[in-house]
Amino acid sequence: VPAGYPRDFERRLHLRDGRLVVIRPILPVDAPMLGQAIRAADRDTLRRRFLGGQPSVTPALLAHLTTVDYVRRFALAAADPETGQGVAIARYEPLDEGVAEVAVVVDPAWRRVGLATALVEMLAAAALDRGIHTFSAVYLAENRPVAALRALAGGPGRSLITQSIAEFAVALNRAQVTAAIRDLDEREHGLAGPAAVVPGRR
Ligand SMILES: CC(C)(COP(=O)(O)OP(=O)(O)OC[C@H]1O[C@@H](n2cnc3c(N)ncnc32)[C@H](O)[C@@H]1OP(=O)(O)O)[C@@H](O)C(=O)NCCC(=O)NCCS
Repeated sequence: VPAGYPRDFERRLHLRDGRLVVIRPILPVDAPMLGQAIRAADRDTLRRRFLGGQPSVTPALLAHLTTVDYVRRFALAAADPETGQGVAIARYEPLDEGVAEVAVVVDPAWRRVGLATALVEMLAAAALDRGIHTFSAVYLAENRPVAALRALAGGPGRSLITQSIAEFAVALNRAQVTAAIRDLDEREHGLAGPAAVVPGRR
């Protein structure tokens, strides 16, 4: 694994519907999986994630998205442990001193069971330990799920809507983030079975 790979962000998690996912920091070996996911994604997902334009899926783009330093740039991948298929990716990218932009996408078959929430909480914990105090996101103003996710990043913040594009910034609240991670830990400790199986590291 690359230098600085933070193993402490590997976890198995039971989602609200009982399904299990494995979550780990992204790795360069995820590039083909990510390329396939972007090519297979439905138009609505691409429109919401990339605000209109579908990116051209070049090897350089995939390398950029999957090679991070786990400090200034951080990304998590979630996979179905039964198939090894990726089901979600969440990331932050630097915007300004202490400020990072968050983006998350969850496979439609895995939505509404708390996966994006868990990923954003884990990103927030990573960010706080890496000198980032504010999360920002840019999304289509009509995107109700993201409007709801805003609150999770640490309470009310500033938001601005210009020509249907919404932008928000919130100061991360360490107490709230710590409580959220404790809750994830408790859900994980409730799991029976062998230690985590993390795709790509078998
Ligand atoms: C936005 C997105 C990441 C949410 O993922 P998710 O795993 O379904 O989110 P969660 O299950 O953690 O839901 C968190 C909260 O968001 C809200 N929410 C999620 N989907 C919603 C929907 N379709 N309608 C209204 N509210 C919704 C709910 O309040 C939900 O909490 P609840 O289920 O307890 O009511 C997912 O819909 C997605 O990938 N969309 C396409 C890409 C995108 O828009 N990314 C964001 C911009 S970068």
